[in-house]
Amino acid sequence: MSILIDSADIEEVRQAMELGWVAGVTTNPALIAKTNRPVDQLIAAILEASRGPVFCQLTTDAPEQQEAEARHLHALAPDRIVLKIPAATANLSLLARLRPETPCALTAVYAGHQALAACEAGARYLIPYVNRATRLLGDGLKLVGELSAVAERAGTGTEILAASIKTPEEASEAFLAGADHLTLPFDVILRMGDHDLSERAIKEFRQVG
Ligand code: E4P
Repeated sequence: MSILIDSADIEEVRQAMELGWVAGVTTNPALIAKTNRPVDQLIAAILEASRGPVFCQLTTDAPEQQEAEARHLHALAPDRIVLKIPAATANLSLLARLRPETPCALTAVYAGHQALAACEAGARYLIPYVNRATRLLGDGLKLVGELSAVAERAGTGTEILAASIKTPEEASEAFLAGADHLTLPFDVILRMGDHDLSERAIKEFRQVG
């Protein structure tokens, strides 16, 4: 099990790594666009500021360009870069061509049948968007459980990296629902160890101390 930071902000990534219990970074085109930096330069900066896996999502939809982009991004740090490939039947062949030397995650997974095909195509990770799935399908945690069950029965060792998580409670619920790993926004990471009752108990101890 590992917790990653979902961010392309170098300072957030650096601070998250300093906490000592954040194991890697996930990015996506929206997070990268916010930085207004060239992708290669930004990924290099993220690699330098972090440890562990760095998940990079493909930006091109053109099939003839996808494999080149994937191999280019992976070559930036072959021992750390994991490609995020958007879930679509057209993209599964790319996933199958890239395995096993190029670890891939199928991202934006919203159904068990996508997970089943991705496991067969060689996906290392499945990335469900938990909060989005709850808003759009009604129950993002149920989706995590379904994907976990599919991956387990497929027996391919494919793991669930739960994303689109907005609260510490949603993070633990996603883990209990079957996520093997979590990627969290920085603001959620900073609240993972807090609870009002813990704060109250600490204040009470200080008052008697
Ligand atoms: C993973 O990196 C996903 O792209 C991201 O967690 C989506 O989360 P959002 O629903 O907050 O955009």
